[in-house]
Amino acid sequence: MPRLIFPNSFIWGAATASYQIEGAWDEDGKGTSIWDTFTHKPYRIWHGDTGDIACDHYHHLSEDVSLMDHLGLQSYRFSISWPRILPQGIGQVEPRGLDFYDRLIDQLLEKDILPMATLNHWDFPQALQDLGGWPNRDVVSWFTEYAGVVFERLGDRVTYWATHNEPFVVAFSGYGGGGFAPGISSFPQALQATHHLLLSHGKTVQLYRQLGYPGKIGIVLNLATFHPKTDNPADFSAARRMEDFINNLFLDPIFKGCYPENFMQWIGDMAPEVQAGDMDIIQEPIDFLGINYYFSQMVSRQNRGLLKLATEPKIDPGWGMTEKGWGTCPSELTQLLLHLKQDYGNPPMYITENGTALGEPADETGFVNDQGRINYLRAHFTAAHQAITKGADLRGYYVWSLMDNFEWAEGFDLRFGLIGVDFNDPGRKRTPKASYDWYRQVIENNAVSV
Ligand code: FCB
Repeated sequence: MPRLIFPNSFIWGAATASYQIEGAWDEDGKGTSIWDTFTHKPYRIWHGDTGDIACDHYHHLSEDVSLMDHLGLQSYRFSISWPRILPQGIGQVEPRGLDFYDRLIDQLLEKDILPMATLNHWDFPQALQDLGGWPNRDVVSWFTEYAGVVFERLGDRVTYWATHNEPFVVAFSGYGGGGFAPGISSFPQALQATHHLLLSHGKTVQLYRQLGYPGKIGIVLNLATFHPKTDNPADFSAARRMEDFINNLFLDPIFKGCYPENFMQWIGDMAPEVQAGDMDIIQEPIDFLGINYYFSQMVSRQNRGLLKLATEPKIDPGWGMTEKGWGTCPSELTQLLLHLKQDYGNPPMYITENGTALGEPADETGFVNDQGRINYLRAHFTAAHQAITKGADLRGYYVWSLMDNFEWAEGFDLRFGLIGVDFNDPGRKRTPKASYDWYRQVIENNAVSV
């Protein structure tokens, strides 16, 4: 079997997010997040699931770090719950919240696992939502206050930071479509939220540098490729519009200091309010770009919605759809990385999330023989390797996810983990899946057999 060997310094990791795994939603002085509020309302989440307990990671910290250690994990990407640190979002600090992450980081470092911390993976403080949330420009100073508190306590040991996870989803699922917390449906609000997410990102990068920390700081974006469904010019411009909306609305301000012009013309007077100097702040250089890759799409012009387009999954030959409703298309991961190399100056990149939920059942012992996940990951690792061979500066790969967890509006229906979690068991028994052993070998060999 041929083996694809990765560069010596390549980092193999796995990712999670605070609300999806921690539980302990109202313990040790934690404030309420918008996801607590949202999941406690009827009909927002399948089966009325909530993250109140989730994987109960808050009480399984050492067990989970041991599982990472046995996996041979080189880096762990997790997120920090803002209302666990500042229950009201600003002002009073909750030391027990900081202590929790302090313990996590010390245990990781003891096992030689590099921590990568995300400041905002969606569990925004409800107290600040009550003041308007991301569409309120004050959020920029709220966010930097929070970031400053976290840097001060953890910045001596965490050397990889991401400001936001998928700001597109925060803005457009939270304030545009409304299927995610806080459940608001207003395109103009979503666009204003976008601008403030970007501005708070830039300010936080500046703050990190002003404070003189030696680590690296970047942002995590959900990116994809978009192809016209036919060679009809109307489909070409629809695909371009979609790419502007999902990718360039975030990439262009960060790397080029401007919003995509065609898209801004299209949305007209819904455009966000931008003040003089904002774009310079947003353009503050980042140390790395985190990429969450799950799918790519074919786009056609249709009389649908504001953007007048429709999308369908792009699927590689021999592959199909995942349980999440996403098409499997590893070849486009190569294309995406090469596009970022070509058009965005080949920044240091990490795949900060990639993985799948395929509905593979557990046997009576709780073991899941998830060959589908192994095949999926092998194909995507291979695609990443191809991009590296062609010069993309990809430095690491974080599988989503370390363990089964609360998958937002889908609750516990979708299982993305390398480790299974029994959500019917009050002790939340963890059982490594077949993919866990397979990934352990990939890490050990720094290579994938294809
Ligand atoms: C991404 C999220 C992550 C997880 C995966 C499946 O959009 O960042 O929290 O839910 O999708």
